[in-house]
Amino acid sequence: MMKNITKITCIGAGYVGGPTMSVIAQKNPAIQVKVVDLNTARISAWNDEDLSKLPIYEPGLAQVVQEARGRNLHFSTDVAGAIAEADMIFISVNTPTKTYGKGRGQAADLKFIELCARQIAEVATSDKIVVEKSTLPVRTAEALKSILDNTGNGVNFHILSNPEFLAEGTAIADLHAPDRVLIGGEHPEAIAALAQIYEAWVPKERILTTNVWSSELSKLVANAFLAQRVSSINAISELCEVTGANVEEVAHAIGKDSRIGPKFLKVSVGFGGSCFQKDILNLVYIARSYHLDAVANYWEQVILLNDHQKMRFAEHIIKTMYNTVNGKQITVLGWAFKKDTNDTRESAAIYVADHLLAEEAQLVVYDPKVSAEQVYRDLDSLGSRTPADNRRLVRVENDPYIATANAYAVAILTEWDEFRSYDWERIKKQMKKPSFIFDGRKLLDKIALVNLGFHYYAIGE
Ligand code: UDX
Ligand code: ADP
Repeated sequence: MMKNITKITCIGAGYVGGPTMSVIAQKNPAIQVKVVDLNTARISAWNDEDLSKLPIYEPGLAQVVQEARGRNLHFSTDVAGAIAEADMIFISVNTPTKTYGKGRGQAADLKFIELCARQIAEVATSDKIVVEKSTLPVRTAEALKSILDNTGNGVNFHILSNPEFLAEGTAIADLHAPDRVLIGGEHPEAIAALAQIYEAWVPKERILTTNVWSSELSKLVANAFLAQRVSSINAISELCEVTGANVEEVAHAIGKDSRIGPKFLKVSVGFGGSCFQKDILNLVYIARSYHLDAVANYWEQVILLNDHQKMRFAEHIIKTMYNTVNGKQITVLGWAFKKDTNDTRESAAIYVADHLLAEEAQLVVYDPKVSAEQVYRDLDSLGSRTPADNRRLVRVENDPYIATANAYAVAILTEWDEFRSYDWERIKKQMKKPSFIFDGRKLLDKIALVNLGFHYYAIGE
């Protein structure tokens, strides 16, 4: 019989580990939850008295942290100590796309996962349940098991897959009321132990159990299907633009079909985020490694279309502005990959900006939650030009009215609600004439803006 879980450790205090463990601790006051990370700055931020300094911005997160932190939720850099004392260990470290060697640009880099496994094997002196929380390629659990069983000191490890389906910006709401919790594993008691933790607040019928591989694959497939819907509507947006159809009307009309459903049909300048592209590339890589080329090509197209959507939006800006943006100020409103998050990973804004910078546009960036350092880091990491050139060509402002002064054009790249309520008349007055708005999220009120005299272009119209 497996003993009751009283101590949980989570390795990785990022976008997944931080919010997930905060909610597990909130809902299970009798369990001590420790979140550990090698990154000392990140851990200090999680421990900051000032809750506005938490390393992640998520609506509702600060309240959850406030409730549980110090009681049964702790953040620490003592990885080994936390592993040793835990009954259950969640692995929530990052699994970026490989940038070197075999599978470069497609396969997931599992070095952080392997390091965790080795450290667990080295430190553990009692039996443990190890839970994969990071999104991983199918059959990673097997690799984990092999490392743990072959380097451990007679300790029993049970591996479970428990993929996270939360979306950023709604993480706390998603964690509080998940559509489903998925647990993949072989050992019934280990599965029951993890299920019990979720049963503290999730109705039993929403907790699904499968074998490990189905669970691992389901995570990739869920993200691939979601991304595919976005690419599908974005593909139609280009067709709408040339035929005079309106993509929002088309999305509404097809979404009324209950078999299709209304969600995830919002046209955009392209999907971003840490998951969609990475997970599809992973799926493609796995399919190719089994020589399933037709399957691989099918899913790869979702990404190619997404790249096309970002590029054609940037191209449209250039073409509309008389085929040159050289030296012209273009104000980018929104840098995060979606609203209500400070996360910029794979954000469409980065690639649209890069394309405009290649044409020597002068960019001014404003995002309510993204820092100037992050904007420069994102551009520098592309390696398209020197850091000095990025700073020469890009200015980051923290006031939207200062950011739009003297602009030839405004490009909306994230769907932040506040952009709707700006005083667009005031903005119009201080912009160059003609004043262009390129709305990559179909966010603003077209009629009102046209009445103010803007040249307004929305994607998909
Ligand atoms: C996604 C999955 O939704 C989540 O279940 C998984 O755990 C992680 O990956 P996330 O990346 O946080 O979550 O955000 P999501 O809301 O899925 O949006 C991803 C991207 O698609 C964003 O750039 C968003 O703007 C874009 N998108 C989404 C659209 O362009 N149109 C839509 O209709 C929906
Ligand atoms: P995700 O979106 O998957 O949560 P993040 O990059 O936000 O990804 O978070 C992953 C965290 O995992 C980072 O803060 C990183 O420092 C941490 N991490 C990676 N490897 C280890 C390790 N071996 N031990 C502890 N923490 C680790």
